[in-house]
Amino acid sequence: MYNEKFIIKKAAPLSGTVKVSGSKNAALPILAAALLCEEEIQLENVPNLSDISVMLELLTGLGAKAERNGKNLKICCKSITNNVPDYETTKKIRASFLLAGALLGRFGSCSMPMPGGCGIGLRPVDLHLKGFSAMGAKISLEHGLVHIEAQNLTGGSIYLDFPSVGATENIILAAVLAEGTTFIYNCATEPEIVDLANFINLMGGKVEGAGTDSITVHGVYGLHGCKSRIMPDRIEAGTYMLMAAAVKGSDLTITNIIPQHLSPVIHKLSETGVQIITGDNYIKVNSKNDIRNTDIKTLPYPGFPTDMQAQFMALMTTGSGSGIIRETVFENRFMYVAELNRMGADIKIDGRSAVVNGVHRLSGTNVKATDLRAGAALITAALMAEGTTEIGEIQHIDRGYENIEEKLRAIGADIQRIREE
Ligand code: UD1
Repeated sequence: MYNEKFIIKKAAPLSGTVKVSGSKNAALPILAAALLCEEEIQLENVPNLSDISVMLELLTGLGAKAERNGKNLKICCKSITNNVPDYETTKKIRASFLLAGALLGRFGSCSMPMPGGCGIGLRPVDLHLKGFSAMGAKISLEHGLVHIEAQNLTGGSIYLDFPSVGATENIILAAVLAEGTTFIYNCATEPEIVDLANFINLMGGKVEGAGTDSITVHGVYGLHGCKSRIMPDRIEAGTYMLMAAAVKGSDLTITNIIPQHLSPVIHKLSETGVQIITGDNYIKVNSKNDIRNTDIKTLPYPGFPTDMQAQFMALMTTGSGSGIIRETVFENRFMYVAELNRMGADIKIDGRSAVVNGVHRLSGTNVKATDLRAGAALITAALMAEGTTEIGEIQHIDRGYENIEEKLRAIGADIQRIREE
């Protein structure tokens, strides 16, 4: 066994161009959707990330054939031999629960480990199950496994008490091959849902309204193979924007993106004094001004993304004045704050709010990534901090940032990955 760490030194201004990879959170449900089709699917712009490898391992474990060639992936789910994904592998990523909707849609039943708590909160799946029940499925829980079975999966009408991204995706996946029409109200409107719906429609499915808060899925009898491209990762893009904003004097261009997806991040960063120019598929971030702290409230899309909360907190640690960050999506997403405070930040937590009082400077020390976006926040802080920062538990960062150290080095950061036995 070995551990990997990042060693990061205070950065000179970041400059040049970062090319953003394909979206992890779009690729994961799209890979689950491939299960619905018996013909070959070709995907482009698939990011090389550990979460994607886990999803592919789960699919091949069920009998899928997958072939990766750089960012291109061919996958064929003709010969699926079982409907119980490997227990230990499913526990590695929460998104594995998306296989429930796809397996239910294709085979009428599945058994999945019930997801437990995770680094950022309880994250139950009650809304996913509520959707499956409304479509006629019977659900039972035994020895930590949730069994979902429908003799005849039929369209249903579902109101989500919260616009959950995963529940919206799972219900769409179950509905694609169900008999009749499914209506999902108060659903999530994230761009990744639109990417999933576009992909399903390319295979011959009929998903309408993705990107709005009500989606209609007309069940079809079968799907055919297709070629599709994964959308750019808006959270990866936002993370590099925050890093450039944090290192004073940076002038960074972030390309291969859809700027509209980053609208809340652009607006809140502008409030802090960072200069931003947007083009067709790029954003330029110029951080010649001092950061003025502001207030943030995380919300479902198109609100400020919870997945950008930690990185914004890191930026505000050395901004002028105070700012309040309110986390409304997850109940426990401030675990990393203790690590920022160990670097000299002044952040106080009160329930779901964090009060950030800007300090003059951070100083490097040994810290640990508590989850994926917390890891990105610690890198952001390390780039600003005096001296050297050592970040442990970086397997969390590898779940969602493709080639992060190469990308950062190319824009002037001093970051090394070291391996310890
Ligand atoms: C997805 C993203 C994740 C992002 C999150 C919110 C993927 C793979 N992950 O996660 O990066 O942070 O959206 O934008 O796309 N909830 C319930 N019951 C449910 C389902 C969810 O109470 O059945 C709650 C969760 O506990 C959480 C909130 O709803 O508090 C949002 O969760 P959800 O939108 O489902 O997030 P994920 O799909 O898990």
